[in-house]
Amino acid sequence: METETAPSPSPEQIDLSAPSVIADPYPAYRALRGRSPVLYARVPAGGAAGLGEPIRAYALLRHAEVLAALRDPQTFSSNVTDKIRVLPRITLLHDDPPRHTHLRRLVSRSFTPRRIAELEPWIGRLAASLLEATGDGPSDLMGAYAMPLPMMVIATLLGIPAERYVQFRSWSESVMSYSGIPAEERASRGKAMVDFFAAELEARRRAPSGDLISALVEAEIDGARLDTPEAVGFCVGLLVAGNDTTTNLIGNMAHLLSERPELYRRAQQDRSLVGPIIEETLRHSSPVQRLLRVTTRPVDVSGVMIPAGHLVDVVFGAANRDPAVFEEPDAFRLDRPPAEHLAFGQGTHFCIGAALARMEARIALNALLDCYESITPGEAPPLRQTRAIMPLGFESLPLVLRR
Ligand code: HEM
Repeated sequence: METETAPSPSPEQIDLSAPSVIADPYPAYRALRGRSPVLYARVPAGGAAGLGEPIRAYALLRHAEVLAALRDPQTFSSNVTDKIRVLPRITLLHDDPPRHTHLRRLVSRSFTPRRIAELEPWIGRLAASLLEATGDGPSDLMGAYAMPLPMMVIATLLGIPAERYVQFRSWSESVMSYSGIPAEERASRGKAMVDFFAAELEARRRAPSGDLISALVEAEIDGARLDTPEAVGFCVGLLVAGNDTTTNLIGNMAHLLSERPELYRRAQQDRSLVGPIIEETLRHSSPVQRLLRVTTRPVDVSGVMIPAGHLVDVVFGAANRDPAVFEEPDAFRLDRPPAEHLAFGQGTHFCIGAALARMEARIALNALLDCYESITPGEAPPLRQTRAIMPLGFESLPLVLRR
């Protein structure tokens, strides 16, 4: 068990925005979690959390405080866009109730279990065809499989041409605040994406086609249609949220299995392990590490006062390794009680795509197990993502695939 020690030191001493911490944040979480329930820290401002330089925020690293913040959207508002620059504002993710409640009802119709189950056979064929094209031998699993699969799924759901996924990915990177992309380039990609969706929305207004974009065009809240920025913010949000996240889940899972050949073999023979492998990957290597909130009033969090109007870094990834909740938190274990992890958030903003993501991961893993006798680490080491600062994952994952 970790124990409480000194109160939080100054933000200059606690830097959660260093590239080494972004690449592998767990040693920092381990070292910091015991210090205080709330740490005033330098945190990366990125992903749906904004653009630019690291910012100061109150970081929550423990399961209890993360859960309490997620369950209190009145105090911990998601409307952070006055505090940080985001490109563009993401509808739903950056909205608070009651507007959020109406908007969420609109879009959740497209994510019902039935609607998702309808996609299953098609996603299965897509996964098999991507692996067919990959063949066997050395391969970068990210580029060949983990990246295209979720992108093609979300593009199809939205009703935009899936074969343009490379372009969608580059747009999506501009929102995820990839460092290394010059500001002008990022702005021009962001604009191209906004213009693209505005044109798609306009086309569906003229001729609805039964896809998600058509549903947005036809949707009304209190008798009023969504305006274009709000509808565009929806499309961008779905494109981004449905893409990198699931890509990293598939990549992180393949990486963990490539290092555990015995587990890979067991899963091949006993497919009931697929579900627990997915849940444990979500907990152990959470694809969405963090998101920001802003306090609407002064609030006492486990004895630490956070003033009103301050940013709070809600670190799902750290909560999911909290030893107060998870025995041997750094170990990859399949015998844990069912999901107490917070990888999809909790409460009002609980991930709307969780069922879809779980299904994609299940199909992706089953297709790998069907196709390859073994997946083992390649000659080159995997390259951790450090350019995108909200997700945890790999830029490239060289593996040797054997049929
Ligand atoms: C919200 C994680 C896949 C769409 C969230 C949140 C998390 C999350 C942590 C909570 C945000 C908050 O509390 O502010 C993940 C992970 C995924 C995944 C780990 C994959 C492994 C998807 C997919 C979609 C999606 C496939 C859509 C197709 C959304 C949307 C929200 C959201 C629209 C905002 C919901 C709201 O604010 O009410 N996701 N997500 N996600 N997710 Fe996901």
